[in-house]
Amino acid sequence: MYVLGIETSCDETAASIVKDGRKILSSAVTSSLKFHQKYGGVIPEIAFRMQLETISQVVDSAVKESGVRRQDIKLVSVTDRPGLAGSLFVGISFAKAVSLCLGIPLIEVNHLHAHIYANFLGDNNVARFPFIALVVSGGHTSLFYIRDFDKIEALGSTLDDACGEAFDKVAKILGLGYPGGPYIEKLARNSGKGRINFRCSGTDSPLDFSFSGIKTAVMYYARKNNPLTRKSVSNIAASFQDSAINVLIEKSLLACKLKRVKEVVVGGGVAANTKLKEEFFRQAKARGIKVYFPSKELCMDNAAMVAGLAYQLFKKGGCTQC
Ligand code: KG4
Ligand code: ZN
Repeated sequence: MYVLGIETSCDETAASIVKDGRKILSSAVTSSLKFHQKYGGVIPEIAFRMQLETISQVVDSAVKESGVRRQDIKLVSVTDRPGLAGSLFVGISFAKAVSLCLGIPLIEVNHLHAHIYANFLGDNNVARFPFIALVVSGGHTSLFYIRDFDKIEALGSTLDDACGEAFDKVAKILGLGYPGGPYIEKLARNSGKGRINFRCSGTDSPLDFSFSGIKTAVMYYARKNNPLTRKSVSNIAASFQDSAINVLIEKSLLACKLKRVKEVVVGGGVAANTKLKEEFFRQAKARGIKVYFPSKELCMDNAAMVAGLAYQLFKKGGCTQC
């Protein structure tokens, strides 16, 4: 079954054709990122306008690249939450129009659940239910207990900044580019182990997160030690990254223990961080827990994860507009 996926929840405009929930036949992604860079964050109005201009072209190119005829697409799917209101509106409206024009059902999916599903695309070995999922992106940091694709229980989330947002803000404090994750990762790699004791704040519920305090600690440290040398910037980047990564791993493994499961999947933009992946594998292995990460491309926002998840939900009868 060929499914068209559409994703417009943040700055990306993405479309993809996926066969039977696993095989990606095409994945087109454009981004308005370069227009947001000078602001150090996504400006909703700019994102929305670019999406309005590009959506039709992006969907067309995904369909063309897949080699699938329009009449053979049997389901259309779109991200309907969470995200920027205007951006979501563009994708949802377009998907509804496709559904009406082609006379095919529409399924709306949750962006965070789609990030988890990125682990089920392609030919890789996949996690078995039930498992724990950590979604760690620019807008979200959440832990879930997954009994099935339509049986997802939220266990905890960030009380303030998302982890990716903290990477972006720390990068801004250090005068690096946007998005900050890849810049921090690169500097941290050159620096080795961080030597400053930045810590993430504690939370009442052990499976919630808080990244706002550590970001402020970095800001005060940078001010106090101004002007920063190159070496000092790398040391700050590595120290912040080590602490952020440790808290993500520690809470995910705690969730495994509390729910008595032996598998954990990770998704979202921050999952592209190699240090996070290596350290996660190392610590999980020591506790007999299996970890799954998507390929770097599929960690980022894309529409293949939307189409894949929609296929699974459709098989379970979860149709929005039939
Ligand atoms: O999932 P995503 O593409 O968009 C959202 O749904 O938010 O995630 C984007 C976030 C940004 O905050 C970016 O800094 C972060 O993912 N990111 C990284 C890395 N690559 C992207 N964070 C840490 N290390 C990376 N290598
Ligand atoms: Zn995302």
